[in-house]
This record gives sequence, structure tokens and C-alpha cells, in this order.
Amino acid sequence: MRKETLIIKIDPEIMEEQLVVAGKMLAAGKTVAFPTETVYGLGANALSESAVDAIYEAKGRPSDNPLIVHIARLDMLGELAGEVKPYAKILMEAFWPGPITFVVKKKDHVPYKVTGGLETVGVRMPNHPVALKLIELSGVPVAAPSANLSGKPSPTDVKYVLKDMNGRVDCIVDGGDSHVGLESTVLDVTGEVPVILRPGKITREMIAKCVGGCEVDPALVDKSRQDLVPKSPGMKYRHYAPDAEVSVYSGDIMAVIRTFYGRIIEVVESGGSIGIMFFEEDALVLERLLEDDAVYKRHREKVHFMKEGSSKDLDTFARNLFKDLRKLDELGADIVLVHGVSENELGHAIMNRLDKASEGRVFKI
Ligand code: TXA
Ligand code: MG
Repeated sequence: MRKETLIIKIDPEIMEEQLVVAGKMLAAGKTVAFPTETVYGLGANALSESAVDAIYEAKGRPSDNPLIVHIARLDMLGELAGEVKPYAKILMEAFWPGPITFVVKKKDHVPYKVTGGLETVGVRMPNHPVALKLIELSGVPVAAPSANLSGKPSPTDVKYVLKDMNGRVDCIVDGGDSHVGLESTVLDVTGEVPVILRPGKITREMIAKCVGGCEVDPALVDKSRQDLVPKSPGMKYRHYAPDAEVSVYSGDIMAVIRTFYGRIIEVVESGGSIGIMFFEEDALVLERLLEDDAVYKRHREKVHFMKEGSSKDLDTFARNLFKDLRKLDELGADIVLVHGVSENELGHAIMNRLDKASEGRVFKI
């Protein structure tokens, strides 16, 4: 059933006035897509089962996948969480508002529909003025998964929210691009030490520095162990996947560039279209290789380059990753090759999303 979707384009000068209607819609059980600093969220009142049903319906998402509940002030946590460990409070003080979700024991009245049947709930205070004001005006905690159709890359640009959600939700708030670009770190703080269930912008290193230690869900570390089930149910689904077939190569830079060169020629010769996501440093070398290639010259419009800044600046790569995967789909790329990064700090989150986008086609060369 197609819905009438109200679209609100935010003007920072009159943001509060503009958001009153959207806040009322949330309070009345309606669905509102809104920007956060990580990706756009698709929100509804977390304490209303029927409102939460509308989220699952709009996304076409399995309902055993728990949703993150968004709050605007620390005192809203008390409405949702049972016991919160002292070290978790230290981390909340340090990183909220920000791109990190804390999995805590839930209070009885938090519906299982929100938590996917779990006794825990994921809570996040986003660091975005529009999100914070909207939640405050709604007066309710706001459950919000990423505002994409299930299986598509999370939207960081309102254009893709409109593409996936126009006609499926009651309101879309256009507040510009999400600058982090990857979804929040999900951190389980129910045990003695924090455990990362989904890597993100707030890294293991940052968390460990703050409270002395931080573990990573073993299912994320050893991907060859099929017996390990990720603790974050969302991690088990095919996710973040564009239409193109994505492969990721890392290791010796020259070997990666030569592989890209070889595959470009192979793909265009067989009539296909190819996208390359790589770094400024690679571009110089690859361009020189291609410059004199007659096959490339004949088919250059079939090759799409996405430069992800310098390999030393992973913030830019993180910010553009999902958007560029979507762009390459729009350009009709059949094959996408990505230059992978090492899996420390923000590289951990980037490689985690690339692993999903490529359905495991990640090669070390
Ligand atoms: O940055 C973000 O986190 C974005 C913005 C909108 O805030 N939201 C987002 O939500 O990415 P979603 O639904 O696409 O991903 C939520 C992730 C899933 O992997 C889910 O399994 C995990 O969080 N999660 C939520 N509650 C959990 C819980 N109680 N226990 C374990 N994992 C949980
Ligand atoms: Mg998502």
C-alpha cells in the first residue's frame, strides 16, 4: 500500500518549527526517516508495537532483527535500560552523543518486537542536531534502523532515502549528508568487559583506552568459523549489498593495481561495465597503465573511477563507501573492484562492510 510521504527540507534557521510536525507524527505512531551523523534512520515510537511493525513493513525486514532505540538525553536511558554497569556509564559520558550503540538489559515495557525477542536493547544518542531535536519534540524514544530497503546499502544521502522509502513511510526529513557514512559501533556492555558486535567509527582502540579493555565478537574475527553465530543478529544477513558484484583486494599495492588493470581490460573486452574504488595514490599508477592501452581507449566510458581520498585518510573512505556503491549501481557497473585496507582502527569497520557488500569476495594478494 502506497503512503502519502511528507518531505521536509531542513533550513537550519527554522529547524525547530519545521520539525514540530514530524515530532507529532512520531508521537502518533507514524514512521519518519531522518538524518543522523552515521546514516539516515527510519524512525518510529519504540514503545508502540504497531509503530514498530510499520518500520519492518517499510523496510521489508525480518522481524527477528533488533532495532536501535535513539534518545536525545541521558535521562531517557532510564526509561529503557535495567542495570547499567559503571564502565558503560563512563563510555556513554565519553562517546555520547555519537556513533556508538550500547546493548544493555532492557526494561520490561520495551517491546520484544523492538529487541527481536532479546532481553537486551540497543540504545544510541546520535550526534546530529536534526535527530536530537526531532527525538526531543516527539517526546518518545525512537526505534530506527537504517532507512534503506532491507539488503541495500545504508543511505548517507537523502536521495537514496527518497529512492527506497518515498511512498513507504509517512515523512522524510532532508537534513543533508551523513558525515560519518558507516553505521554506529554496536557495543555489548552487559558483561564484565565491553564486546564489539559491529565495528564502527568508535573503534576498539578508543574504547580500550577509555576503560582499559575491549573485546570483539569472535564471529567477527574468525570468518572461517561457520559455527560462530554473530551476537548482533543484523550481522548474519546479506547486507549493504549493491547490485554489482563486488570484489575487494588488499596487500601489495602494485599487485592490487595490476589486478585492477587486468580485470578492467577483461571486463570491457567482454562488453561489461566496471567500477573501481581506490585511492588517490593508486590513480596515478593505474592511469599510466591504462593510458596506452588500445582496448581501454575504445571502452573508457565503461570504466567508472571512484577516488576515495588518500589511503592515509580513512574518514573519507568511510564517508563515501555506501554512497559510491550506490552511484556505481546507477552507472550500471556489473563488476566493482575495491582497494581494501588493513583491519585496524576505522579500517576494521570499513572491511566489515566490504566483506558484506562483496559477500566474502575479499582477497589478500
Ligand atoms: O548508525 C546506526 O546505528 C544507524 C542509525 C540510524 O542510528 N542504525 C542502524 O540500525 O544501523 P540497523 O537496524 O540497520 O542496525 C542495527 C544493528 C543490527 O546489526 C542489530 O542486530 C544490532 O544493531 N542490535 C540492535 N539491538 C541489539 C541487541 N539488543 N543485541 C545485539 N545486537 C543488536
Ligand atoms: Mg541497516
